[in-house]
Amino acid sequence: MEPFRVKMVEPIPFPSREERERALEHAGHNLFRVPSSAITIDLLTDSGTSAMSAAQWSALLGGDESYAGARSFERFESVVRELTGYPEVIPVHQGRAAERILLGALLGDGDLSVSNTHFDTTRASVEAAGATALDFPSGQGEAGFGGGLDLTRAEQLLTSPDGARVRCVVLTVTNNAAGGQPVSMANIAGARNLCSRHGVRLLLDASRFAENAYLITARDSAHASESPREVARQMFTLADGCWASLKKDGLANIGGLIALTDPELAARCREQLIAVEGFPTYGGLAGRDLDALAQGLVEVTDPAYLRYRTESAQWFGARLTKAGLPVVEPVGCHAVYVDAAQLLPHIAAHELPATAFANALYREGGVRVSELGTLVFGRRNPDGGPDLPAPRELVRFALPRRVYTRNHLEYVAEAAARIAAAAADLPGYRIVEQADALRHFTAVLKPLN
Ligand SMILES: Cc1ncc(COP(=O)(O)O)c(C=O)c1O
Repeated sequence: MEPFRVKMVEPIPFPSREERERALEHAGHNLFRVPSSAITIDLLTDSGTSAMSAAQWSALLGGDESYAGARSFERFESVVRELTGYPEVIPVHQGRAAERILLGALLGDGDLSVSNTHFDTTRASVEAAGATALDFPSGQGEAGFGGGLDLTRAEQLLTSPDGARVRCVVLTVTNNAAGGQPVSMANIAGARNLCSRHGVRLLLDASRFAENAYLITARDSAHASESPREVARQMFTLADGCWASLKKDGLANIGGLIALTDPELAARCREQLIAVEGFPTYGGLAGRDLDALAQGLVEVTDPAYLRYRTESAQWFGARLTKAGLPVVEPVGCHAVYVDAAQLLPHIAAHELPATAFANALYREGGVRVSELGTLVFGRRNPDGGPDLPAPRELVRFALPRRVYTRNHLEYVAEAAARIAAAAADLPGYRIVEQADALRHFTAVLKPLN
């Protein structure tokens, strides 16, 4: 059960079926364009959607809004140093700002960045620096740890003539683009070894570091007796630095960080930080945000919280399976993924089966989930034919932290069961308007019948 009780409540909207139909039509059949006032349960993302604790709300009042040298920064810096062991701590307003600044300072034209999987904003920052992002995911080779780096492929690249162009190896923990699967300690240690032998920096995208650490304690008997915080510290110790979107495991609604061992690289980051984010002791955040984050970074490694969070995701995955949905196994921590291609074999990839499922679920129960299929990852066909499909047609049920109870998720599962039962009747979609980049945020769609 939840290791907390409710102290403050926020009513949720219950639009009628007619209102949901109208909202979807008005939004061009794109759930990103539906206002939250028309959503009953919002599982679009786990980013920035956490409920803060009483201690975090209380910490907000202690926020020091001094432009320079605020006490809030000192508290944030000390918590991050204690957690990571990295001396250089730089706050930013969210993860992508950290990526733009750090990868911009590290990479240049013709350089390579190697990763288990670059998250899409990470890839965008690598490319903006003139470099190329190469993904070498390990797949399911290691039981329970499907999020790792393929060390053999990374080693092959590093020993090839192109190896000299590799500036960093990035481990995204957990691996969001690979179903939120964790990275094992052995894989992080293997990447460390590889990087040390080839003189390359190892960086963590630590946005979900606590969830990764907990899954290591739960799935690797060698770490079963350690606390998630101890395991997190070991993960950080193996790397040369990290960045994070603190909208996830910071347990707050905004925030990010860069933390490094190298003072020279940190100095270059701070120069850029001042130009685009703000003074190094606030980095685009209010002092009160830094205090809420400092408290969140302490709470997030609580084993009782992490156990509840993981077990809720496992329970929800099993419940959706029982509802007749093809759930991607094993279930990670921050989301449950459903394979829409398997559920809707009558809808071709370019007719967007994952969108078809997500929109049907919204119509049925006012539930918002996100499509991670051809709308997000597909590409326009240069020959004018059907879109080039994404590798998979997934629907992500993201789980905001400490927000929804099992009753809410039971409601979602019941609506999803009704969709699964009527799957053969769902129509595909076509895109009628789209932007050149990140089209899923703004595209206008039409159902095919
Ligand atoms: C693994 C990972 N890295 C980076 C980011 C970007 O962070 P932000 O949304 O705070 O800019 C995200 C956001 O979802 C993420 O999941």
